[in-house]
Amino acid sequence: MTKYIIHGGKPLSGEITVSGAKNAAVAIIPATLLVDGVCRIENIPQISDVTLLLKILEQHGASINTINKHTMDIDCSDISRIGTAFDLMRQIRASYYLVGAMLGRFGRAEVSMPGGCDLGVRPIDQHIKGFTAMGAEVEIRNGIIYANVPRGRLHGAEIYLDVVSVGATINIMLAAVLAEGQTVIENVAREPHIVDVANFLNSMGADVRGAGTNVIKIRGVDKMRGGFYSIIPDQIEAGTYLAAVAATGGEVLLRNVIPKHLDCITAKLIEMGVTIEDREDSVLVRRTDRLLRTNLKTLPYPGFPTDMHPQVAVGLCLAEGTSVVTEGVWDNRFRYVDELRRMGAKIQVDGKIAVIEGVKALTGAPVKACDLRAGAAMVIAGLCALGTTEVEDVFHIERGYENMVEKLRGLGAEIECVDVIEKVPSPGIAI
Ligand code: EPU
Repeated sequence: MTKYIIHGGKPLSGEITVSGAKNAAVAIIPATLLVDGVCRIENIPQISDVTLLLKILEQHGASINTINKHTMDIDCSDISRIGTAFDLMRQIRASYYLVGAMLGRFGRAEVSMPGGCDLGVRPIDQHIKGFTAMGAEVEIRNGIIYANVPRGRLHGAEIYLDVVSVGATINIMLAAVLAEGQTVIENVAREPHIVDVANFLNSMGADVRGAGTNVIKIRGVDKMRGGFYSIIPDQIEAGTYLAAVAATGGEVLLRNVIPKHLDCITAKLIEMGVTIEDREDSVLVRRTDRLLRTNLKTLPYPGFPTDMHPQVAVGLCLAEGTSVVTEGVWDNRFRYVDELRRMGAKIQVDGKIAVIEGVKALTGAPVKACDLRAGAAMVIAGLCALGTTEVEDVFHIERGYENMVEKLRGLGAEIECVDVIEKVPSPGIAI
């Protein structure tokens, strides 16, 4: 086990390169199961969720060749087994994409129920509704999803999602690319990684249209060949470093970004008094004066992303005035609030709404990363706080951020990753 130790109170400055998008990579890697040939994929982020997915594919018989740190050849032509690696699958959310991909390619899937961050109830009913409409029978027994297509191959269908779901949109798209006939999915999610997954599938021979709008049409093809694809930069990783500079002050150039994907985040930061300059594939962020209060509500793209809520909330804890944050996607995204309170933040939560009263400074404290984005928020809080902050359970952070400690050190942050030595409980004082 490791933890991060941060000596805060210094502004960030310098340059940083953003890695490939986690939520695109965790869908594209399972999507290689659909392809009969070698997929060369570039800009794969080095994060533990990706490592786990690659292990899961290998256990199913995929051949994986590392070309360099961020480029791999994945060949799923000779998948020899399904119904294995349940323990690994259980550890991540994105294992649910294996269901869509396996159903599409083999007409059968056995995948354990997904894990991932605890953000409240995380149903997969919309994924199952889609698979069922396409001719699959789906059953959940003993924590395993068993899906089967009695006629062997899925057929096209018209599917209207009851909620805008990133996972269901991608999963149904994966199932549909090799199905017989046309599938139309309405009320779909429009996040940049949805478009990226569609582009990946098309570059391997699929026929997916409309990704990025709220209707996706997929004409099933008989086979997908291999090819080359480069994953887009991570919108949320970039947003996290923007939020970090907003909170600490300073000036940083973020390289390898798509500025358009960041508009939903930068619009809010600009309201808070942060200066943002878009360049072709980089963004300069600067903050000199005290942050201003604002209100924000998380929504599906192009709304403000739920995955940026805790990180931006840290800045609001230090802003002048009172801000209101409304979580519009998850039931339980406020677990970071107790941790921030230990550092002197003034936050009241009622249901899905947090009222944040800005304070002049946060103070260092031992805190926990409750989930991936809450963990990133704790790091940001530690970077601005006076004194020392120790962030525990950083495995959550390492699921989704490549080399966060090294990247921040490159910006002048005093942060280190140390091994945790088991504490011997104190005997206490006899009374
Ligand atoms: N929902 C349903 N039924 C479903 C699916 C979703 O009711 O079948 C509801 C959820 O309960 C939630 C809403 O729909 O209230 C949106 O959920 P969505 O399916 O979009 O979330 P997800 O696919 O499980 C992905 C990201 C999350 C991100 C959300 C929202 C991955 C692996 N995960 O989750 O990312 O918060 O979309 O943008 O792509 C993260 O990266 O830290 C993270 C948690």
